[in-house]
Amino acid sequence: MPISEQTRVQAQDLLDFIDASPSPWHAVATAEQRLQAHGFTRLQENQRWQLQAGGRYYAVRGGSSIIAFIMGQGALEESGFTLIGAHTDSPGLRLKPRAAHSCDGVARLGVEVYGGPILATFTDRDLSLAGRVNVRTADGFETRLVRFDEPLVRLPNLAIHMNRDVNEQGLKLHKQNELPLILAMLPKGVDADPLFMGHVADKLGVPVSDILTADFNVYDTQKGVFWGAEQEFVANSQLDNLASCHAALTALLATETPQSTCICAFFDHEEVGSGSSVGADGSFVSDVIERIANSRNLDEEARHCAYHNSFFISADMAHGWHPNFPAAYEPHHHVMVNAGPVIKSNANQRYSTSLDTAARFMLLCEKAGVPYQQYVHRTDLGCGSTIGPMVAAQLGMPTVDVGNPMWAMHSLRESAGALDHGYMIGVMLEAFAGDVS
Ligand code: CO
Repeated sequence: MPISEQTRVQAQDLLDFIDASPSPWHAVATAEQRLQAHGFTRLQENQRWQLQAGGRYYAVRGGSSIIAFIMGQGALEESGFTLIGAHTDSPGLRLKPRAAHSCDGVARLGVEVYGGPILATFTDRDLSLAGRVNVRTADGFETRLVRFDEPLVRLPNLAIHMNRDVNEQGLKLHKQNELPLILAMLPKGVDADPLFMGHVADKLGVPVSDILTADFNVYDTQKGVFWGAEQEFVANSQLDNLASCHAALTALLATETPQSTCICAFFDHEEVGSGSSVGADGSFVSDVIERIANSRNLDEEARHCAYHNSFFISADMAHGWHPNFPAAYEPHHHVMVNAGPVIKSNANQRYSTSLDTAARFMLLCEKAGVPYQQYVHRTDLGCGSTIGPMVAAQLGMPTVDVGNPMWAMHSLRESAGALDHGYMIGVMLEAFAGDVS
């Protein structure tokens, strides 16, 4: 399937966005850079907000969740909010607080499993570390982003000679004992902890004693690529869900003077249930929406009208049909990679899509000239969920769950369609432009 130059540029921009974002904290920093370059002003949650009509703003909570918005031209009571939500986090491995230890002279870093990654995909890859460190200052501490660019750590497989059944049984890794990452062979008399902390301190240019706390995500240093006969697919880590963040952000940055107040809300902690101060089940999005309404002096009645004149698109990746595993899919709802955004529904409300919101999204796709597909999970398999249902329950807004089809969700190296990414940007632009209701 050949792809246009515009689609290739959009997909390359996605790969660049992910490569610049090896942790949720970096993803927020990357989004912030782009917002600032497009004239968005940062708001502090602990200071009063003075919002101007037509203004472009954003707020960051906890360094890993970000909400950006453009104040609409229309009366908020009538034009409401057009909100697109996604998540900044991806399942994987996180370093424990005192990660470095020695095992018979080998320095290893202990990890926790964050969310539900396919653990086997972390073996034999050029892994490194990215995260944030709190460094002592004269009057407290400051948070610094840190990224090791070179492959720093590794999880070597056990040779097949000691694991003869690996191809029949699959690669099983004991989470406590078999996931620590190899960092170095320790010279006699050297401990693992000072060796590792020395590395971190050197990177930051501070003494080890100035490091108070650190949060490190394990990431794959391999850059994103195009692949396929026509180079119509992309592969990278974190496509779930930085692809949705990137599509929504790209659409917001290209939106000029919308009628509706257009919002992108990207949350951390989706992969672990969203229940935190920065997660989608916390107060971040409702706080921002309330403060926008306050700035327009909306009374309680007008506020309710605004909520019900709004539309929330919860964007998260979907499961594209994999020809090698046909039995895993609902046979009459195959969604194909590069055949357009997917509308996800679930009778048990694991997805928030309703009859009306699905119809509304279909009309947006038609208007944007974008194909769409419908997905439902197999009845005999447990269905995943998204931030959609919890934000819908909290705000009471009409909500739809959508996402682009992909392969290998939660692998360290995921795949998706370049065409689909362009389609998703197209329909999100149409949503921000408004007037389908
Ligand atoms: Co996701």
